[in-house]
Amino acid sequence: MQTELPELGEIPKGWTRKHLLGLEDLSGDELNILLDKAQIFRNAFDEGRRKFSFLNGHTSVTLFFENSTRTRTSFALAAQRLSASTVAFAASTSSLSKGETVIDTAKNLEAMGCESMIVRHSTPGIPRLLSENVACSIINAGDGAHEHPTQGLLDILTLRQKLGSLEGKTIAIVGDIAHSRVVRSNIWGLQKLGAHVIVCGPATLVSPTWREMNVEISHSLDAILPRVDALNMLRIQFERQYTSPFPSIREYTLLYSINGERLRRAKPNVLILAPGPINRGVEITPDVADGAQSAILEQVSNGVAVRMAVLWLTDGARKSQR
Ligand code: NCD
Repeated sequence: MQTELPELGEIPKGWTRKHLLGLEDLSGDELNILLDKAQIFRNAFDEGRRKFSFLNGHTSVTLFFENSTRTRTSFALAAQRLSASTVAFAASTSSLSKGETVIDTAKNLEAMGCESMIVRHSTPGIPRLLSENVACSIINAGDGAHEHPTQGLLDILTLRQKLGSLEGKTIAIVGDIAHSRVVRSNIWGLQKLGAHVIVCGPATLVSPTWREMNVEISHSLDAILPRVDALNMLRIQFERQYTSPFPSIREYTLLYSINGERLRRAKPNVLILAPGPINRGVEITPDVADGAQSAILEQVSNGVAVRMAVLWLTDGARKSQR
């Protein structure tokens, strides 16, 4: 029994993963373990119980080869709140620029002694590759346009808190579907919990191949508005595009931005999510981003709780496999 947080209990028998590479790999039961434990950390946070010693002696390295505000800080806070030490690896000033491979970099960091690496990279599959080459836990913090499992988890935790069971709920993910890793993690997670997912955006960003993921495709935000329980508004990932997917930002905004007028045509309690960073006035107007139906900052708070659960569970599995 965890005396500091008795309601957390032991690592559940159903959890055996020392890495978290994506939500595609997880069963519905594993997803629920993660969400339930994250909820316990979130409740404790709200009650002012924010520091625990579960990861005493654990060193966690954040290995980010792409920019980040929320994810990196949130992982560092989560690790510190579990009493782990954290080290931030700075890719831009490292020996990668001298030709060292990512695997060699990871092996060298591990040789200095670390129990987990939190990895963000622009190439899909790098976290999995590292998990096959090092002994410590690898946690995917976003790999190219592939997966961003902790973002998916914090989105789903927020939806679950606000909407209750996700069985039969309709969740629309709107915007830059083509270049988003958040969308894939959301689809895999939401579908395992019984939700109906719509991906919505211009045809240049939502190709028919998305049907292979068993989602509904829409090119009209206005058409789907009346039947969605939540809208997850994605940022246009200009950094991943070589040609413009639409004639102008103004045109995109006219068709796909969530604003006060559109909100009035949606279900009365429709929930608005965004992974951040938000581009105010592009995918979301300030009145909606800061309004009563926005859960954007709740998502951020849930992010720390989700990452505490991920670090605690993967650490437990790693220790039991030694
Ligand atoms: C997302 C990401 O990096 O994939 N942001 C995040 O982690 N909160 C989405 C984005 O950059 O638009």
